[in-house]
Amino acid sequence: MPDKPSEIHRPQLKTLERVFSKRGMGSRTDARSWIGAGKVRVNGKIVTNPDHWVDLDRDRITIDGKLLQNAARIYVLLYKPKGYLTSYRDPEGRPTVYDLIGDAGAWLSPVGRLDLDTSGLLIMTNDTAFAERVTNPEHKVAKTYQLKASTPISDDQMEQLRGGVTLSDGPTRPAEVRRVRDSAKYSFLELTIMEGRNRQVRRMLEAVGSKVLKLVRTGIGPVRIGELPIGKWRRLTMEEIDALGGRSVGKANASTSEFRRKPRPRYLSCKNPDRSRS
Ligand code: URA
Repeated sequence: MPDKPSEIHRPQLKTLERVFSKRGMGSRTDARSWIGAGKVRVNGKIVTNPDHWVDLDRDRITIDGKLLQNAARIYVLLYKPKGYLTSYRDPEGRPTVYDLIGDAGAWLSPVGRLDLDTSGLLIMTNDTAFAERVTNPEHKVAKTYQLKASTPISDDQMEQLRGGVTLSDGPTRPAEVRRVRDSAKYSFLELTIMEGRNRQVRRMLEAVGSKVLKLVRTGIGPVRIGELPIGKWRRLTMEEIDALGGRSVGKANASTSEFRRKPRPRYLSCKNPDRSRS
């Protein structure tokens, strides 16, 4: 007779290498090297296979004799400069956001990506469920960008961007679009989208016959980059973490509109937003 469902132990199975990255202790490559070097024991026995399955509730995992503890959850907001990758290592040796965060206390991963040429707000965390909530389009977390377009943008083009344009991977959802200012040759816009597709903002502008010359992400949900200097990071506050769904499941749809109405600093009002803020 099988146990009643309430009595069944639902194992939290993970491969050994995933345990280390999940707990924010290092990348999967780091984990493989520790495991391969024989530093890791499961229930007292050295395991050198990174794909060995472990049950997080039942197995006792040690590294260099120390018992694995749950890493504290850490949430960092970085002002990524243009020219930095959001990946960990670059075969071409270009700088990455990891060069900027140094030792934030745990292994952190970016929440979504920013292109090499985009600057602005990047959240990094070791809380994978939080990252999933913020990036999953179903949760409709707003991402706000300021951009400089290569041409003046007409009211008609603004309406097209608002209503949704057709990209190679399908139509975009309705967006908030605000004119920040115009010059003779350029328009400066603020766009708020609920998705985060690859190079989405750049492709949206191309779809209406223009190009993005500069792109800065200024907000995620109610969180704003504010006066943080470029290249610097700070911890998210508890209020900011909570406003993005916090650590509990089920709050990820919290409304952000009241925050979006607040006046914000202008990021594209000077010639080079990156340099001016360094
Ligand atoms: N949209 C883009 O085109 N690039 C980014 O980096 C983010 C959003």
